[in-house]
Amino acid sequence: MRLNILSRSPECYSTMRLVEAAKDRGHKVLVRDVLNYAIDIDQGEPDLYYQGKEINIPNAVIPRIGTSVTRYGTTVLRQFEQMDVYTPNTSSGVTNSRDKLRSLQILSKHNIGIPRTAYVSRKEDVNDALERVGGTPVIIKLIEGTQGVGVILADKPEIAKAIIETLHSAHQNVLIQKFVAESKGKDVRAFVINDRVVGAIRRTAQGQEFRSNVHRGGVATPIDLDPTYENAAVRAAQIMGLKVCGVDMLEGADGPQIMEVNSSPGLEGIEGSTGLDIAGEIIDFVADQANMPDIDLRQRLTVSRGYGVADITIPDGSPYIGKTIKETGLREDDVAVLTLKRGDSVISNPKSSRVLESDDTLLCYGKVEIMKKMIQDRPRRRRELQPLPETPVTEGTTL
Ligand SMILES: Nc1ncnc2c1ncn2[C@@H]1O[C@H](COP(=O)(O)OP(=O)(O)O)[C@@H](O)[C@H]1O
Ligand SMILES: [Mg+2]
Repeated sequence: MRLNILSRSPECYSTMRLVEAAKDRGHKVLVRDVLNYAIDIDQGEPDLYYQGKEINIPNAVIPRIGTSVTRYGTTVLRQFEQMDVYTPNTSSGVTNSRDKLRSLQILSKHNIGIPRTAYVSRKEDVNDALERVGGTPVIIKLIEGTQGVGVILADKPEIAKAIIETLHSAHQNVLIQKFVAESKGKDVRAFVINDRVVGAIRRTAQGQEFRSNVHRGGVATPIDLDPTYENAAVRAAQIMGLKVCGVDMLEGADGPQIMEVNSSPGLEGIEGSTGLDIAGEIIDFVADQANMPDIDLRQRLTVSRGYGVADITIPDGSPYIGKTIKETGLREDDVAVLTLKRGDSVISNPKSSRVLESDDTLLCYGKVEIMKKMIQDRPRRRRELQPLPETPVTEGTTL
């Protein structure tokens, strides 16, 4: 295959290893600096120029986009996607994972452990936010920090508030996050390729440091990952839409707590401590997928008027319970069931003979009017009881 590695550092370990692995396997590989691309947007003909010359379109690209060029880098990557070039990590996956707040927002919809996190704008909301995440000691984090820079542990509420106010006044948005004390100074990095954990390390901070980043002196040791951790890492990678990534987890009392999903994970730490050929696995996977560019479903599935995608949950007492998908008559009504989610598992392309159960969620594509009829008013999530108001409430009082 013709492969381009989008990287600004041809000399760095990860890029060199990918180039080496690609060459060893007989692929044609070029390292390209994203800032040297010019984008040409023309009707029906998205194109790219590199250093002023039209590019020879590769079969695949591997984005290794640094935090300093996220915006331009993902724009170039999106252009490759429009040109049907395969990338293991899509521009939206890279964009979502780069932002710690956005990735936690996305993961929080799913049943995956994450440290409780708050995000506020008003000064008046800081106190409540601190309380909601469990009080001090608390973690305060820049949204786009890396290598441990921008992660602070505040011991006291006054200090936490002063730090948050200072950062806000410098127009820096921050996350307020529960300090997972039982994992202090340690975290787990699972390297995921194509929905499989191919290697894992535990990083341990040295001395008084609570951050386990290798750049902060953390020491990496290879580990055999517990299946719960493996599952969490794979699910997080799938939800973020990343086929090659590093999933960072804390070892909480209740199991894995995902902190971040890295779309350009470094190879040095993991290859160095596990002795695995991760670069080779990435290249083999990309070569295998090279003729299967990712399809932006939203772009393709909603082009016919009146058609769309919807999640339909089968409520208790629904007439569909106990019926097969065929017996629901959905197909005749022009609605196709793409996936069926039951508990934590997702069945792709469920057979028409599959019997439905209460609480199943069907991801459907078809006539919006039909699907609308099937979607019930969603039950509101019950909140914990609020304390009673101070003034006694008597019958007939309107609050
Ligand atoms: N909520 C938390 N509880 C305990 N330790 C944390 C928490 N968040 C981060 N850390 C520690 O700080 C390190 C850096 O945090 P992380 O969110 O991964 O930022 P970065 O992108 O800078 O690596 C982690 O590897 C972990 O050791
Ligand atoms: Mg990290």
